Amino acid sequence: MSKEITINFQLADGTTRTVDAVVGDSIMETAIKNDIDDVVAECGGSLICATCHIYVSDETAALIDAADDTEQDMLEGTSAERKPNSRLSCQVIVAEGMAGHTFETPESQ
Ligand code: FES
Repeated sequence: MSKEITINFQLADGTTRTVDAVVGDSIMETAIKNDIDDVVAECGGSLICATCHIYVSDETAALIDAADDTEQDMLEGTSAERKPNSRLSCQVIVAEGMAGHTFETPESQ
């Protein structure tokens, strides 16, 4: 049975949603499964759309690999402001250590 943790999405409208996340899924997949409309994910995780943009916390960043060159290139084309903590959520994989972490969605995708 797959392991589940709970994570939070801080949405652009100021509300927060707490959802179950399956370890090994991407944050994008978790958002789609839980009807987080702020994550669009037009390309379905193929790293060609940049509409799954999120901002990660320092505590999350410490658990994940830095964005590779392809993700860096795609982050140049985000609709909302790219920040130092911008990531594409299809490239961020849910890990057990992310329990309770908060992922912020941008104002537009
Ligand atoms: S879903 Fe398209 S780049 Fe992440």
